[in-house]
Amino acid sequence: MSRVRVRQHVNPLSQKYQTPIAAPPWEKIYADFFQPLHLDIGCARGKFLLTMAEKYPDWNFLGVEIREPLVIEANEQGRSLGLTNLHFLFGNINVEPLNFLRSLPQAPGRVSIQFPDPWFKTRHSKRRVVQPELVQALADVLAPGSLVFLQSDVALVAREMAAQFENQPEFKPLTRGDNPWGVPTEREIACQRLGRLVYRRLLERR
Ligand SMILES: C[S@@+](CC[C@H](N)C(=O)[O-])C[C@H]1O[C@@H](n2cnc3c(N)ncnc32)[C@H](O)[C@@H]1O
Repeated sequence: MSRVRVRQHVNPLSQKYQTPIAAPPWEKIYADFFQPLHLDIGCARGKFLLTMAEKYPDWNFLGVEIREPLVIEANEQGRSLGLTNLHFLFGNINVEPLNFLRSLPQAPGRVSIQFPDPWFKTRHSKRRVVQPELVQALADVLAPGSLVFLQSDVALVAREMAAQFENQPEFKPLTRGDNPWGVPTEREIACQRLGRLVYRRLLERR
C-alpha cells in the first residue's frame, strides 16, 4: 500500500477542526463491543494500535487522530489485516472531549497519549493535546482502576502533561518506568534508534 503524504502538523485550534467527534455505531465496528477498550490519543498512522490489536485480541482498540488521511489509511490497514477489535476516528480530541464515548457500554480501561506534538513556543501551548479540559474529562469518564499512560521525549512536554494528571486528585501516579504493553509507537522506535531519553508516566484512576 502506498504511504499517504500528509502535513506534519495541523493547528488544532483552526476553525476546520472544531466539529466534535461523533460516536460511531460501536456495535458495528467491533466484533465484541463488550471487550475492554484501549483509547490511544494522537495515534498518527496507527502502527502502535495495529500491533496492539493483534497482540491483545481480547481488548478493543480505538485511535483518535486529527489528520484525516492517516485515519483513512489506518482503517484500511486494520480491515486488510482482518482486525475486528480496532477502529480509528478522525477528529480533534479537545473539542467536547470524550463525549463520543458516552454511548459505549463501559469507559476505556486504558488510555495512552504518546509523544504528543510539543508546540515548543509558549504562545502555541494551547495547541498541545493535554489540556485541563481533557484531563478533567478523563477523570470524569474513567472508572476506578483504569490506566493512563503518557510518554514523550521532550522533557518540558512530559513534565507538563504528567503534572496536569498528578495535580488532578482522581489520578494516582504508579511508575515512571517502561512502556507497559511492550509495543513501541513509531516515534518511540525513532527515539530508540537515536538513543533519545524517553520520559514516561503510568497513572491509575483512583
Ligand atoms: C508526534 S505524533 C505522535 C504519534 C504517535 N502517538 C507516536 O508516538 O508515534 C502526535 C500525533 O497527535 C496528533 N494530534 C495532535 N493534536 C491532536 C488533537 N487535538 N486531536 C487528535 N490528534 C491530535 C497529530 O496529528 C499527530 O499525529
